[in-house]
Amino acid sequence: MSRFDRRNFLLAASTALAAPRLWARPSFPADPFTLGVASGAPLPDGFVLWTRLAPDPMNGGGLPPAAVEVRWEVARDEGFRDIVRAGRTMAEPEHAHSVHVEVAGLEPARWYWYRFMAGNAVSAVGRTRTAPAPGAAVSSLRFAFASCQQYEQGFYAAHRHLAEEELDLVVFLGDYIYESSWGRSHVRKHEGPEPYTLAQYRNRYARYKSDADLQRCHAAFPWLVTWDDHEVDNDYANDRSEDLDPEFLVRRAAAYQAYWEHMPLRRSALPVGPRMQLYDRHDFGGLARFHVLDGRQYRDHQVCPRYGRGGSNVVSDPLCPSRLEPERSLLGSEQENWLHAGLSASRARWNIVAQQLLMAQVDRKPGPERQFWSDGWDGYPAARARLLRAIAERKPSNPLVIGGDVHFNCVADLKVDFDNPDDAAVATEFCGTSISSQGPPQTRLNALRSENPYVRFAHSEKRGYVVMELSERRCLAQLRVIDNEKEASTPVSTLAAFIVENGRAGAEAA
Ligand SMILES: [Fe+2]
Repeated sequence: MSRFDRRNFLLAASTALAAPRLWARPSFPADPFTLGVASGAPLPDGFVLWTRLAPDPMNGGGLPPAAVEVRWEVARDEGFRDIVRAGRTMAEPEHAHSVHVEVAGLEPARWYWYRFMAGNAVSAVGRTRTAPAPGAAVSSLRFAFASCQQYEQGFYAAHRHLAEEELDLVVFLGDYIYESSWGRSHVRKHEGPEPYTLAQYRNRYARYKSDADLQRCHAAFPWLVTWDDHEVDNDYANDRSEDLDPEFLVRRAAAYQAYWEHMPLRRSALPVGPRMQLYDRHDFGGLARFHVLDGRQYRDHQVCPRYGRGGSNVVSDPLCPSRLEPERSLLGSEQENWLHAGLSASRARWNIVAQQLLMAQVDRKPGPERQFWSDGWDGYPAARARLLRAIAERKPSNPLVIGGDVHFNCVADLKVDFDNPDDAAVATEFCGTSISSQGPPQTRLNALRSENPYVRFAHSEKRGYVVMELSERRCLAQLRVIDNEKEASTPVSTLAAFIVENGRAGAEAA
């Protein structure tokens, strides 16, 4: 063997050794489908199907470091008599034995059922739905949006009720997990410390996804997802963490990978190091376009943080003039341009800007002084004005902004200049409450009403989600709330309902 051949041989041998082994005839120590099934990112001819093999979910999953073959089936009926697509994929150890199947070739706007098989194990059955054909006339679309599900602060009764709604889609707007243990009156506990490593984030997702009500909601509808801060670290901004961790991008890479591994996302979203392409557009015929945004990865750092810290602060204008700097960006220029272009080009009747934050200005100080919370859009007022001005000028049909993060229900008119009472609303905002995370005191919100007259409704005492029903003529938003998140069997009711008429920004009580 020449030196060259010998070197190539050694190289080939080492590659073969490094390639993942296949566990050809798996026999699992326990049910591997402990984390349920999910689907998402629906297209007119398909969707993503998700599951993860994890017989010991809270301890790294419990599988050897080998690939496992997973079979999947998609049927037109719940009993799988009419199977229309089936295939095989690999659950690989480098992705925590998660699988992300991109199914194509299906009919638009119809329900399908799916399941997975590995070894002798069969998963629960999930139900999902394709999007309507491009540009198709769609008489109605019903979706719900939700966010913020701190596991310790409440049960997921809201998810149980959400799973029973008649919906085409669920949109989740961030804080799917919480990295830290905080808040009052815990009903259950996280294991382990705050996650920093990939193994720790995987275990935290496993803890959250082991909840039966959350699994039920995933199995009932396709989801669109985006994240907020707690999927990584409270109040992080781009490459800066709250505690100015010099290794933060290493932590962010681990958190982003674990997020991808546990969400029904396409392969195109698979992170590369600490970067992950999450923002995306999703069309539902001619009726709706969802512009799903990432408000964390590309943002400028928060202004005027506390001494020696990153993250949020409550800042006032004369003391923190940098808040008003015109070049500050929440989305980063690339995403901002992409969003403006997508709004301009959209032919959809409703344009839903699905993002994580409250967009309306909220002056938090009663009286003539003004105070703002620097982590939300209020910390990026020039960026917000650019977006709302783009909406005012490009006139996408019926812009609706949906958000989360603040843990209270809020309905607001969005204006280019919130300080000008004569400025008309250019978009309508609905900010959801939380699935379980505790909200601020109602008395504090009441005290702010006169400071912020474009906020039409603000209610913080109940947890829940928002159901939106779109038709050509109008949007009906129902604020669905549970009585008490500390009780697993708590009932659901409608706190309030609002209508947005086609062609007119601003919500009216239904
Ligand atoms: Fe939250």
